[in-house]
Amino acid sequence: MKQRLLFLGPPGAGKGTQAELLAERHQLLHLSTGELLRAEVKAGSALGQEAEAVMARGELVSDALVLAIVRHRLESHQGGWLLDGFPRNLAQAEALDGLLAELDQRIERVLLLELEDGVLIQRLLSRGRADDNEAVIRNRLVVYQEQTAPLIDHYRNLGLLHSVEASGTVAEIGERVVAALVD
Ligand code: AP5
Repeated sequence: MKQRLLFLGPPGAGKGTQAELLAERHQLLHLSTGELLRAEVKAGSALGQEAEAVMARGELVSDALVLAIVRHRLESHQGGWLLDGFPRNLAQAEALDGLLAELDQRIERVLLLELEDGVLIQRLLSRGRADDNEAVIRNRLVVYQEQTAPLIDHYRNLGLLHSVEASGTVAEIGERVVAALVD
């Protein structure tokens, strides 16, 4: 079966880092909505201009905008994929289910990276991306708890959720990710 995976977890948990490594190893399309949105902002496109101020506040950009980006990528890709940072709320999860039904595809596993807030904040402050100052990080964590964390129960109820302890080195977490793909 083709691997079709989701990475879920709070900002700074290491979704992007682990997704990139796994995608390279398993030759999967790595689709990070955050990266795609930042590329649009950098290019100065209409979409990027719409998203920029929202991202700078640590809020979620509109579901319609993100869905258009994801639909475009998944419709034109036949192989396995790994979604990172999407879906971000229940409406996006339901829209993704609808899109996958159209494409006759389904999610195989959801990997939840779990880490305490203090470590997340330290990791993000060390990186220093445009949305990595302390006030915005705290807002991203609130948005995660309010809008994204409900997806944990959603995917657990579907029997798809696998938790991964996300402390330690990148290599240690990578080993746990690989183990979570076969347990
Ligand atoms: P997005 O880009 O998805 O950011 P995020 O969820 O806040 O996640 P991060 O990229 O900050 O963290 P990560 O878990 O990927 O960790 P990473 O590997 O980078 O979204 C940004 C914004 O875009 C959102 O706020 C929103 O506005 C918008 N957006 C995106 N998707 C959206 C959607 N679906 N709907 C609506 N809006 C959306 O690691 C973090 C740092 O830690 C790095 O510096 C890394 O090198 C370091 N690190 C990683 N692992 C380790 C380790 N083991 N030890 C030490 N350091 C580590």
